[in-house]
Amino acid sequence: MVMVKDMASQHRQTPTNKSRQRSSTGMIIRQKEPVNLETPLDRVDSYLTPTGLFYVRCHFAPPALNSDSYRLKVDGAVRNPISLSYRDLRNMASVTRVATLECAGNGRVFLVPQVPGAQWELGAVGNAEWTGVPLHILLERAGIEEDACEVVLEGADQGIPAEPPIPPGPISYIRSLPRRKATQPEVLIAYQMNGRDLSKDHGNPVRAIVPGHYGMASVKWLTSIRAVREPFHGYWQTSDYAYWDHADGKPVRRPLGEMKVKSEITRPTVHERLAPNQAYTITGVSWAGEAEIAGIAVSTDGGLSWAEAEFVDAVQRYAWRRWKFDWTTPRKPGQYTLLARAQDAQGRAQPDQHDPSYGSYVIDHPLPIDVFVEDEGGSPS
Ligand code: MTE
Repeated sequence: MVMVKDMASQHRQTPTNKSRQRSSTGMIIRQKEPVNLETPLDRVDSYLTPTGLFYVRCHFAPPALNSDSYRLKVDGAVRNPISLSYRDLRNMASVTRVATLECAGNGRVFLVPQVPGAQWELGAVGNAEWTGVPLHILLERAGIEEDACEVVLEGADQGIPAEPPIPPGPISYIRSLPRRKATQPEVLIAYQMNGRDLSKDHGNPVRAIVPGHYGMASVKWLTSIRAVREPFHGYWQTSDYAYWDHADGKPVRRPLGEMKVKSEITRPTVHERLAPNQAYTITGVSWAGEAEIAGIAVSTDGGLSWAEAEFVDAVQRYAWRRWKFDWTTPRKPGQYTLLARAQDAQGRAQPDQHDPSYGSYVIDHPLPIDVFVEDEGGSPS
């Protein structure tokens, strides 16, 4: 794996353990209303993130939906529009699969200079087991037309978004998926997470799960699936969760989609104090979009040198792989910068720097974790 030297000097981090507010369950509170909670990744050792510790990202207050009166419409460019009850969905053949969700703004606090938006550190990511009906089964049942190019997913939550341009009235949370992704077998209309009915914050009674795409695609409180013949240009598609690309040499906005390959160090944590000349196992997680995670390397000297780390989990497409690296902490006290860098099976590695075309999203460069090695007496030099 090719590594670039001295990456730490390009990205000084700003997160600090001091300013964190915690919920009663230990979640880091980013916002109380609407609720936005971050996973304390250093406290999660398991492959599946327990539901109570899985990050929560909401733009508006969760809507009051009831599974008894719930309906899911499938309409638009289809031959036989359908409307399903919660029971109808539960009675269909289901699929269970593991998928990692990462919010596109995860790691935002590492951007310099600081940018607006929730100041996520490392924990706007989680790995869970999802159960539901593949979206393509519903689209086939409704008879999606040949010329439908996208599938628009709408949630029941509504409000006025916080980021400009502010629309003149309340809008719903709506995202579209390209037809080619919407019809892949991994995309689920899910009603269970980690073997239990979805909790309210995670989309009860029904949500979409779009493995391989940033979390914004996995629409919660899903009530409408609409096939369309023209690309959808809603707020969450063009204004928010979009980036700058080029078409014929001209800048254009495009919706975010596939997740980029990424890794994070879960232990030690930022500014942790470590004893000198001791065995210490650095741990972390890594994931990718539409390809498997294939390589992971760690630097303990700010990017000057790198060594391969060891995966803990086997390869499973769309799920993260935990990894570990056995380190002997330096004898010399002082500050050390730890970095991790992953690569997927298509040879795509994390870039050296954040790409400004993505604005405050897609923070996929190696995130520096500064730690202090103490002297024998217990204080850093
Ligand atoms: N769906 C609705 N209806 N409303 C939302 O605010 N947030 C999206 C997505 N689905 C959102 C939504 C974003 S940005 C993310 S990252 C994921 O939900 C987070 O899912 P989680 O809260 O279950 O972790």
